[in-house]
Amino acid sequence: MRVVGVRVFFDSSAFAKRYISEAGTDAVLAWCDQATEIGLSAIALPEIISAFCRLRREGRIDETQYRQLKALLLADIEDAAICDLTPAVLAQTIASLEKNVLRGMDAIHIGSDVVKMLENDHAAEAGAIAAYNAAIKVAGEANDFATREILEHILHDEDGHIDDIEGLQDQIAQMTLPIFLSIQVG
Ligand SMILES: [Fe+2]
Repeated sequence: MRVVGVRVFFDSSAFAKRYISEAGTDAVLAWCDQATEIGLSAIALPEIISAFCRLRREGRIDETQYRQLKALLLADIEDAAICDLTPAVLAQTIASLEKNVLRGMDAIHIGSDVVKMLENDHAAEAGAIAAYNAAIKVAGEANDFATREILEHILHDEDGHIDDIEGLQDQIAQMTLPIFLSIQVG
């Protein structure tokens, strides 16, 4: 099992379309409607505020509209899952930069998304494992050994899923160590 609700992770330029009507706004609004949780990197707030300030400087919105947009954004962000710039996020960001041609800010969005996604997947697998363990106990108590065997087989698969996720998290944690060291030395 992998999916528990729909969690949508937006980068700043995509999420800004929620407030500024332009190409892609309809799609972003539809995604927001479907999402049970909206994920954003910590850099999304300053980036979107920066976009609002530019609109105000260029006279495309007035002071009242600026304040309305800012209030809307702050209210939306209150419910969003904000991904901080943790050492794991920075490590994943650097890995993305090394493997792809990206701007630093875009890589931070991707790094945040990967780390959050793994955390969510881990929680979903742990939930599935707990549910199968409980069901196995019930089947055993009812002497329904055929069902118990099927459930044990599925549980084995779920153990494999969570191992895969923990392997990726370990890889990211290992990348983090050199960053920590370079920060300590520098
Ligand atoms: Fe699974």
